Amino acid sequence: MLHEGTLYEMIGGADTVRDVVEKFYPKVQANPLIGPLFPDDIRPVMDKQYMFLSQFFGGPALYSDEYGHPMMRARHLPFPITPERAQAWLNCMAAALQETEIPDHLKQLMLDRLAGPANHFINSDPS
Ligand code: HEM
Repeated sequence: MLHEGTLYEMIGGADTVRDVVEKFYPKVQANPLIGPLFPDDIRPVMDKQYMFLSQFFGGPALYSDEYGHPMMRARHLPFPITPERAQAWLNCMAAALQETEIPDHLKQLMLDRLAGPANHFINSDPS
């Protein structure tokens, strides 16, 4: 399957999504607002995020095939996500994308698409 015409395809498919994830999590771990929410063993989280973002951007449904319906807001409920933490997540993603060869207009499109869920996952008041 080529998934032509999707954002996934336009940014370069699996290799690019993997690259974004590899660049994103070190920034997340180093971020004082959100780093402490994540386990030290970040590999399993990276693998899940690779699978999720692949389908989120229109590629193969790797995450759903393995884990069923994403229910992402529910999966984030155990973690206190404040507006500041949602913004920190998006900032880490922006910084990761900045380190890739993805064309600027597609970076912006990716961030715009991720802002929806990031804000939707807010489940705690500002600290
Ligand atoms: C809004 C700020 C966010 C914070 C603070 C946050 C934090 C977290 C944390 C702490 C985990 C659990 C790690 C673990 O112990 O396994 C997690 C898992 C995950 N997050 Fe987020 N997240 C945020 C936004 C997002 C967004 C916007 C997406 C994608 C659109 C996303 C996708 C995922 C995925 C796919 C997982 C793995 C779920 C699973 O266990 O199957 N997150 N996130």
